[in-house]
Amino acid sequence: MKKLLPCIGIALMIVQGCKLETQSSFGEFNPGNIAKQVFKINAGEDTTLSTKSGTLLKFCSNTFPDAAGKEIEISVQETTNKGDLIRSGIPTVASDGRLLESAGMIRVFTRPEFSINPDCPITVKMPAQGLNPEIKIFTADFDGGEMHWNFLSSPSNENLLVSLQNGANLFSKNCTACHSKELDRDVTGPALACIEVGENKRPRDWLIKYTKKSQQMTKDGDTLALCNWAYYKPNVMPDFDFLSDLEINQIYDYIYNESYRRNLCTAGKTYARADPKECNYSAIVFNENNFIDTFYYDFKINNNQWINCDYFLNFKDVVSPFVVKIPEDGEVYVIFDNYMVYFPLFKYQNGYTMARTASMNSVNLPLGDPVIILAFTKEKNGKRKYIEHHTKIKKKNDLNLQFKTITETEFQSRISKF
Ligand code: HEC
Repeated sequence: MKKLLPCIGIALMIVQGCKLETQSSFGEFNPGNIAKQVFKINAGEDTTLSTKSGTLLKFCSNTFPDAAGKEIEISVQETTNKGDLIRSGIPTVASDGRLLESAGMIRVFTRPEFSINPDCPITVKMPAQGLNPEIKIFTADFDGGEMHWNFLSSPSNENLLVSLQNGANLFSKNCTACHSKELDRDVTGPALACIEVGENKRPRDWLIKYTKKSQQMTKDGDTLALCNWAYYKPNVMPDFDFLSDLEINQIYDYIYNESYRRNLCTAGKTYARADPKECNYSAIVFNENNFIDTFYYDFKINNNQWINCDYFLNFKDVVSPFVVKIPEDGEVYVIFDNYMVYFPLFKYQNGYTMARTASMNSVNLPLGDPVIILAFTKEKNGKRKYIEHHTKIKKKNDLNLQFKTITETEFQSRISKF
């Protein structure tokens, strides 16, 4: 848990938040609003299930020793988008108060008397659009009706995540002097986003060789190296022959993963790339789906609670906390549009705020990022008073908002759009 400091602001303000007093009208933290997917398995056999979101659940023949030989029902609930997150009423806040971004939550349960064998827990593979090396696994714990997220484990494919993190470090140490850190712009050297994706993608063995000795390859007449040189000379890429094959592989694994995770190879994105056939330096255009690989977070679960695949958000900008004034009592939530993050504001004096005390006048949030303020009154008799306000995080975040009346159906359909 590095970089604690930038989060202190958030920590203070949500310490109260994780007590979840502000219960959601969607289900009071009984996320019954999230559809149950029911499966039947034979408890005496090794079985793999695939949920709607593509999560794979593996049970071994001895996962439920008390149900040996029986056919049992397995129920699964999962939230993999913001709409479901809102409906579930489960804020993404850790029990120490820090904001967590969720890569997905899942709950797997059967009859309570069928306890899970700790020697043979349920193994989960949760699909992800690229992997975030900082992901950890949290489990929900209910304490006197209050829900807390507690650290459970690192993903079991942690080695892969560590390797991606090494790649990120090696890339920023050796490459970002000339290649854009964000991967998506030409600077001294070309944009490296999607270098192994789409038209004219570079083979991995070529990339390794080129990274070690690009000038030598040009001298030796490698077509592609010559084409790159024709366009970029006199800028020279230094030799990285002091890096091992493993390290160079880690760099390109990082670039591949990051291109996927940040949607850099999707429709509308173009990057210039030398075409070895004609030695043109031309734009390649991406179609909708260029990645064929599926990335997974692997972890084990041995209880029937919600499990969250999360990482801590460490924002650097210091801003004033959100204060929202609404004309009647209600529930007020903030959703970070760029992240799977959703949490309640608290009633404080004449408004709702992220900060519980007057002395808390700054928090760490991503300045300029889009957020949505949702507010609604509790009545559900056909009509709802509702606010959906889109804004950006500013230095000061004081808002005065007015309700609109909409029907329950409209309300539900708006939520499902998130
Ligand atoms: C001092 C500047 C500099 C540094 C540092 C640098 N590069 Fe380059 N890179 C270039 C230039 C310039 C080119 C274009 C070819 C040329 O002029 O040699 C290039 C080209 C490339 C290409 C070819 C892209 C294509 O379209 O085929 C790859 C891949 C690449 N660099 C990877 C890396 C990696 C990985 C690192 C870090 C380990 C790195 N570069 C560090 C300057 C640099």
